[in-house]
Amino acid sequence: MIGTVRRRGDRAQRADLVIVANRLPVDRLVGADGAVSWGRSPGGLVSALAPVMNSQGGAWIGWPGDVGEDLEPFEHEGMTLIPVSMSAAEYEEYYEGFSNATLWPLYHDLVAKPEFHREWWDAYVTVNQRFADAAAAIAAPGAMVWIQDYQLQLVPAFLRELRPDLRIGFFLHIPFPPAELFSQLPWRRELLEGLLGADIVGFQLSGAAQNFIRLVRQRVGHKTHRDSVYLPDGRVVTAKAFPISIDKAHFEGLARSEPVQERASQIRKDLGNPRRIFLGIDRLDYTKGIYARLRAFSELIHDGHFTAQDATFVQVASPSRERVDQYRILRDDIDRLVGHINGDLGRIGRPAISYLNSAFPQAEMAALYVASDIMVVTPFRDGMNLVAKEYVACRYNDDGALVLSEFAGAANELRQAYLVNPYDINGMKAQMLEAYLADEKELTRRMRAMRKTVAENDVNNWARNFLGDLAAARPGHEKHVKPAKRS
Ligand code: F6P
Repeated sequence: MIGTVRRRGDRAQRADLVIVANRLPVDRLVGADGAVSWGRSPGGLVSALAPVMNSQGGAWIGWPGDVGEDLEPFEHEGMTLIPVSMSAAEYEEYYEGFSNATLWPLYHDLVAKPEFHREWWDAYVTVNQRFADAAAAIAAPGAMVWIQDYQLQLVPAFLRELRPDLRIGFFLHIPFPPAELFSQLPWRRELLEGLLGADIVGFQLSGAAQNFIRLVRQRVGHKTHRDSVYLPDGRVVTAKAFPISIDKAHFEGLARSEPVQERASQIRKDLGNPRRIFLGIDRLDYTKGIYARLRAFSELIHDGHFTAQDATFVQVASPSRERVDQYRILRDDIDRLVGHINGDLGRIGRPAISYLNSAFPQAEMAALYVASDIMVVTPFRDGMNLVAKEYVACRYNDDGALVLSEFAGAANELRQAYLVNPYDINGMKAQMLEAYLADEKELTRRMRAMRKTVAENDVNNWARNFLGDLAAARPGHEKHVKPAKRS
């Protein structure tokens, strides 16, 4: 959906609910006539939070996606959007550098080697302070502020310093590593103290919350008990799991819609109506295990379990963080692998793998989910993985198979998936083959159970649980609360 920009000369009204995330939930669209408008952006975080913001109203603070420009706050689909600017150097050092070449690999089990650079850290501090300043300016007295993800781990403490009257929540969408890995970070104590500015620190899994509690005890020296941290000033911080989910009704509705049904039949026809369609949908990221899964699929053909006419693999890999070295290397590796596999196994008009290096609108993704028989989600490490849940939501006939890495957070809930260790190619092949050969009854048994799980914990539950706990939290330092300045 496209909203128009309403620039406002005056300061935006103060908000009772403020979301702070690295990105605004919109992409800028420039029409042929040069007119600027904004469309809802794709991505797990945005699709998870947009329904909550729409229903509750509120302000969203984030980076608009371009460097070096200052934009005024504007309204979009019932939310006030507050752009935070970033220079080209900050984009390189805070976003590409510290967020995505230091924290991202460190928090994902060192799937790639993290780089530690002091100037990247300095930019991370500066940009986090800017987000905190913006939140302090827009939040109404006693408001709830919910900060999102690894790019903004210092914001809770910066914000508490400025506005001790606020209820501050933080949610980490990616894994939180064990102490042995986290402790490599030269700024480990600063990051822990940054997070401790929140009243509630949420994680995808309880193991991650326990990692955090243990680190706080070891590295900061605070007293802890179960999911609570006791600060010397009397404040109590809760660290616990809030597994994120999707808008199940929305995806199921899309899947059932006529245009998506028609598109799904067209996709099957275009692929030559094979017996089985395998599907992967990921950001093009080295944590996602795309290379290993395509190899596993190609080996199943090589080994003679089925032919490229019987089964085909559609891999969507949306471009991501393209200037970061590891992502560039991955893109070249996958291009080469797909070329080899199709060169070896494909026939005219029948490639073994249809590789699409682009992003698609949600309706097209839903059509792919409907068209496919076996969804393959095999990350080496993943906070949750919403694609797995989206696939389940779209299979309203209780059919289709999900092959899922045991290292994705989603595996904690979707126990009836064909669970795999993505480092074990033979094990992965065995499970993919089992999914390929499974009878209808078995598929229905598994899918029905997974659909029940996704229905019981959708994104509305997730947001309600987190915000419910946050509303009940006692903001710290109440005795020191400064009178809030009105704009
Ligand atoms: O889930 C992790 C995350 O970084 C989200 O914060 C973000 O929405 C998504 O991946 C896409 O990443 P990026 O903003 O770097 O393109």
